[in-house]
Amino acid sequence: MKRNLLMGDQTLFRDPDIFEIDHVPEQFNFRDTQLSELAYAIRPAMAGGRPFNSVLRGLPGTGKTTSVRVLFSEIEQTTKRVLPVYINCKNDRTRVSIFGSIFNRIFGHYPPTTGIAFRKVYNEIGNYLSDSRTVAVVCLDDVNYLMYENRLNDILYVLLRLYEEFPGARLGVIAAVSNMEIDLMTKVDSAVWSVFRPVDIYFPAYGYEEVREILSRRVRCGLYPGAMSGEVLDLITQRTVTAGDLRVGLTIIKESVANAEKAARKEVLAEDVSTSVSAKDIRLRDAIGGLSPEEKKFLAVLAEVVRDSEELPTSGALYEVLNKRLSTGPANFYKRLNKLESMEIISLTPLQGRGQTREISLRYEVEEVLKVL
Ligand SMILES: Nc1ncnc2c1ncn2[C@@H]1O[C@H](COP(=O)(O)OP(=O)(O)O)[C@@H](O)[C@H]1O
Ligand SMILES: [Mg+2]
Repeated sequence: MKRNLLMGDQTLFRDPDIFEIDHVPEQFNFRDTQLSELAYAIRPAMAGGRPFNSVLRGLPGTGKTTSVRVLFSEIEQTTKRVLPVYINCKNDRTRVSIFGSIFNRIFGHYPPTTGIAFRKVYNEIGNYLSDSRTVAVVCLDDVNYLMYENRLNDILYVLLRLYEEFPGARLGVIAAVSNMEIDLMTKVDSAVWSVFRPVDIYFPAYGYEEVREILSRRVRCGLYPGAMSGEVLDLITQRTVTAGDLRVGLTIIKESVANAEKAARKEVLAEDVSTSVSAKDIRLRDAIGGLSPEEKKFLAVLAEVVRDSEELPTSGALYEVLNKRLSTGPANFYKRLNKLESMEIISLTPLQGRGQTREISLRYEVEEVLKVL
């Protein structure tokens, strides 16, 4: 095949970053209600008071994270009295790392990782908030990642207790959750809930016109003029609405442009529009992206065992293999298993009359999981 040596230079992207999921768009429309509800919850903090806690609920890709980011950057530009702290629970999942992030926002560096007790970090944060009268607003984004080993309960408990222990310290929590089946209230002890008592802010999925306009704006900023026709955008909008997740649309655009570039075209055609991106794929990539290297290895072995077994493997059988192949001990085995369940990558079904034994199944196609890994 004749190689086109110039092809590497040819691009339809004016700015590929515009299509990254974590890009904060310049224009953020259709979320005015949610933004003002959130602002209302935070407002007492602007006057040095205690903000209301809130829970942001909505399917993935409905603008929860972006709303928080938009509001946080507005706070940063307006006042020093309120300290917004954004925590992605996919990356920060323990008390130590969450309070480490809060510490970092306050003092500009992380606490030393060894030789310092959690209590000391906690006290320093509490004393600072109390003495400086700065109000912290902590966003626990994708809080479902904390819903194993009772961590959510524990973390909310320590966060919300801060103002009991340090007179004058004020802190509010914004928890965002993308899984509509999860009822936070049932995951949190009633004693903690009675202090948490969040305002509920709901993010409905975007409709066709909304998706069309959001994507069209992105295309105008991110691609060169003429790179994508209205018809192709309609097609992508349709797929996005069907998938119910704006991230699907952004990913389809990226992939379709790459396809057009590969074919050395200056315009994306309908045939370039990738058909393989589904909301489920994005969720899987998302979930796997939140695993540590050890957890990924664990999942890879688990997936292979599922693929090679005739029946669904039991936890006992899987333990044997993991212990042999990765020298995983029992404590780590159950910890990882529970984590994969909480991230909705696997399901664990108890077997009747078999005590602790559970049957393990993947919630995605084995091949898909191995491919993403
Ligand atoms: N109203 C909107 N206008 C423009 N872009 C949006 C809007 N809502 C969501 N997005 C984009 O969609 C993607 C997913 O949004 P995000 O805030 O991460 O959703 P969630 O946190 O609910 O999963 C991001 O790239 C974001 O920029
Ligand atoms: Mg989000």
